[in-house]
Amino acid sequence: MIDQEAIVQTLSTNHFGKKVFSFDSIDSTNTFAKNVERIIAPHGTVVIAEEQTAGRGRLQRNWRSTKGENLLFTVILYPEFDMEKIVLLPFVGSLAVVDAIETVTGLTATCKWPNDVLINSKKICGMLLESSSGSAGIERIVLGIGVNVNQIEFSEELVGKASSLRIESGNNVDRIRLLQSILEALELRYHQLSSFPPVQILNDWKMKALLFGKKILVLEHECSFTATAIDVAEDGSLIIETGEGEKRNLFAGDVSLAYE
Ligand code: BTN
Repeated sequence: MIDQEAIVQTLSTNHFGKKVFSFDSIDSTNTFAKNVERIIAPHGTVVIAEEQTAGRGRLQRNWRSTKGENLLFTVILYPEFDMEKIVLLPFVGSLAVVDAIETVTGLTATCKWPNDVLINSKKICGMLLESSSGSAGIERIVLGIGVNVNQIEFSEELVGKASSLRIESGNNVDRIRLLQSILEALELRYHQLSSFPPVQILNDWKMKALLFGKKILVLEHECSFTATAIDVAEDGSLIIETGEGEKRNLFAGDVSLAYE
């Protein structure tokens, strides 16, 4: 089991990761994070597990991960900023993971809209953000992060699409060190979003994205079509141009993308 003491001891954050719920096996760290009482789970609390029996991905997909080899965790956030910034939290998450991967492994990582992290065009990390609201609007966001760290075998349908830090670097990666680095980067990026104009985080994210000007395959509900990725709007939607020259905004809840 990931040792809570080992995480906290040498962690240089103020809030993120200072409280940790660590499990050997759980259904989903996001589900636990959504339901745990606020009084025992302050801002920045981490829920982490070696294995998930019902790990969830975007668009009702599953998230599978070999036990004990990767990072499966959720950070609990109580944002004190408004919706204009809350919609940019996926960009905060993916930038933080890119920052940490580059610091710990020296590999170059890139962002894929809305919140994947890729190395050599293969998916290394995915995120699932979920919110719960009360009378005052959004009260809690859970940011679930799955990073393929030391896994070396993937199921047939993922071969060529997913990879791990171990495969890409040729070395085993210390999961605690990577987790600490992600939490440190996340706290800095979260502060950047809360304290500066939202365009800052978006511009940093765009510099790490390879998407613009590229042909993409958009899978929207049951239909798929090709388009060119143009930009990301201030509300976090992806601006595309279809083959007919029509500009459209895509929202993360509806679509998945593949590079052509
Ligand atoms: C995706 O790319 O589809 C998102 C994957 C998110 C997986 C993580 S693993 C930790 C957290 N708990 C979950 O059930 N899902 C997220």
